[in-house]
Amino acid sequence: MKKFTLLYILALTACLQTAFAQSASLAEPDIAVFYPKDFDSIHTLPSLAVLKELPKRDSLPAAWKVKPQFIQMDGKNSVHFDLNPETDLYGTGEVIGDLRRNGSDVTLWNTDNYEYAKFEGKQLYQAHPWVLGVRADGSAFGILADNSWRQEIRLENGVDIISEGPSFRVIVIEKETPQEVMVALGELTGTMAMPPIWALGYQQSRYSYFPDTNVQELADEFRARKIPADVIWMDIDYMDGFRVFTFDPEGFPDPKGLNDYLHARDFKSVFMIDPGVKQDSLYSVYQQGSAGNHWVLDAAGNEYNGEVWPGQVAFPDYTRPETQKWWASLYKDFMNLGIDGVWNDMNEPAVFDGPGGSMPDNNIHRGGGDLPRDVHLRYHNVYGLLMVRSSREGIMAVNPEKRPFVLSRANYIGGQRYAATWTGDNSATWDNLKMSIPMSINLSLSGQPFNGPDIGGFTKSPSADLFGNWIALGAYYPFSRNHTSNETEDQEPWAFGEEIENVSRTAINRRYRLMPYLYTLFHEAATTGMPIMRPTFFADIQDENLREEQQSFLLGENLLVIPRWAEGLKMPEGDWQDIAFEETDDTYQAIVKLRDGAIVPMGPVIQSTEDYSTKKLTLLINPDKSGNAFGSLYDDAGEGFGYQDGDYAILDFSAFKTAENTLKVSVKQTEGTRKTAREFRIGLVKDNQIIYSDWSSQNELTLTF
Ligand code: NOJ
Repeated sequence: MKKFTLLYILALTACLQTAFAQSASLAEPDIAVFYPKDFDSIHTLPSLAVLKELPKRDSLPAAWKVKPQFIQMDGKNSVHFDLNPETDLYGTGEVIGDLRRNGSDVTLWNTDNYEYAKFEGKQLYQAHPWVLGVRADGSAFGILADNSWRQEIRLENGVDIISEGPSFRVIVIEKETPQEVMVALGELTGTMAMPPIWALGYQQSRYSYFPDTNVQELADEFRARKIPADVIWMDIDYMDGFRVFTFDPEGFPDPKGLNDYLHARDFKSVFMIDPGVKQDSLYSVYQQGSAGNHWVLDAAGNEYNGEVWPGQVAFPDYTRPETQKWWASLYKDFMNLGIDGVWNDMNEPAVFDGPGGSMPDNNIHRGGGDLPRDVHLRYHNVYGLLMVRSSREGIMAVNPEKRPFVLSRANYIGGQRYAATWTGDNSATWDNLKMSIPMSINLSLSGQPFNGPDIGGFTKSPSADLFGNWIALGAYYPFSRNHTSNETEDQEPWAFGEEIENVSRTAINRRYRLMPYLYTLFHEAATTGMPIMRPTFFADIQDENLREEQQSFLLGENLLVIPRWAEGLKMPEGDWQDIAFEETDDTYQAIVKLRDGAIVPMGPVIQSTEDYSTKKLTLLINPDKSGNAFGSLYDDAGEGFGYQDGDYAILDFSAFKTAENTLKVSVKQTEGTRKTAREFRIGLVKDNQIIYSDWSSQNELTLTF
């Protein structure tokens, strides 16, 4: 008997040792997963970031370069990576700071951070436990700390990730280039779904356009002044006493009528929905939420209440499958009023009278389905993600034939699957304008391609000059929306006088003319995970001089956008040619350069994407040294899901020099069943001008110059 017990104890110890030993394995040839010896799967999994199965396919090769040490730091479960100090670090989400993140310290705790004034802007609305490393030779890796607890990323001495939760697993991607790491991140966490094309248009917002007649006048003003725009945004004042899913009976008595009015003028509408539901026993959404037991609970197990715009509110517990379904169902009547898109705000969640501006760490989320019951400290960073997941489902259910559009302020790595984002409450200052570039790039390098800041700044009122500079750049953000607070002057493109109105029109015209290229980039992001807005160093990953360049940025692979104010810029090598758009006054306009060897399709000026068509395309071409250039176009209906059944087209363009002054271009549809009769012309970009060929409906074009 004794012998048996001893054997049993020995066996158990061996077993525990194996189970608790740090384990490392390959899930793919270049994706390694590391588990600490006391790995706590109950409190960290299932992952809300990672979609991909990570089986133990192989053992870790001895030569694997980036290996974690699971340690305790400041008494917390942490992971440390020793790195060659020459490694350049990026990612870590949207916080402010330089593009190159080395030396920075970022806290991942979704925070309503007005004017980015708290925590030096190093703690904002989203959490991305992700670091992208690029070595001197251009090879790259990515580190994903797969847990949602409050944590800190320190990039002072290698990489340290210090969590307030239990020990967590870490995923390391190892690739030849940072671009390949981005694609692998997309495979791991999912990519943005193809948005409706109208979401790529210019958008006008303020806190708040009120009443509805004001919105109508705004729409008419855009059309009368011939400033292209696609969307008008309704901020919280459209609601009845800030009750979500209601309308102010005086200011917005007929939302359906308003949407019809907007649609008739080729505008779409986006309406705000916050998570907090006013605690009001006469309000049906609160009644339903209480009857369905849908609220987040306090530590004692009672309904938690905190203050947001409507006063005391209750918060849906999106970890519960029943609550997700209920929340999704609320969008039915709402969307049926002809609303086109939804803006989910305050979903960190922001709580004015809560600790640190949110709810207490020990609040309870009850979970269900595959998510276990756990404390707010675990679910805080994914509260926004779970909300937008549910919003998106609700919107899809109402209009299954349409592509949903949701904008979210809070999110978590992987949340690009459900919503686009903007970078919250920035200010109308030069600093904010300049910092928007590295911020948006790092957000892009953290998996969220569809992002941008409030053009013009949210708080404070910009001078005409600042606004002119901002709109001239903002026309090239993936998400291009002018938004401002309720305490500021008018910020529409015409609010600063004629000169800036013209500057705005020119910049926005250019965005719309580049729409064929931009839409192609959105498709690339949706299918491969490659960012739309990319750091300049992506143009030449061997060139270490470019690693800190944060005034310019790449749009896709072929365009380099340089703000007018840029000084001491580091340029990638090659013969990047300025695109000389037809409008003449370029005082404020960002310089847009075309890479040598590239072909970029460009359309005509349109007033909204409602008029978007690829029937007449100018192919902007900058041949390389040998006279060759290549490019492509993705085209589909711009809405709906027909593209998933083949109703799309990918055209490949190739240009060759056939004689000293002759360029031949051929166009070939390489994918998709969508057939469109098109006309093309060559636009050779050369010596600061564009030399055009005649229009032709042939697929072979020639330009002699
Ligand atoms: C905070 C958001 O960041 C801002 O964009 C919005 O205008 C206000 N909430 C009011 O809804």
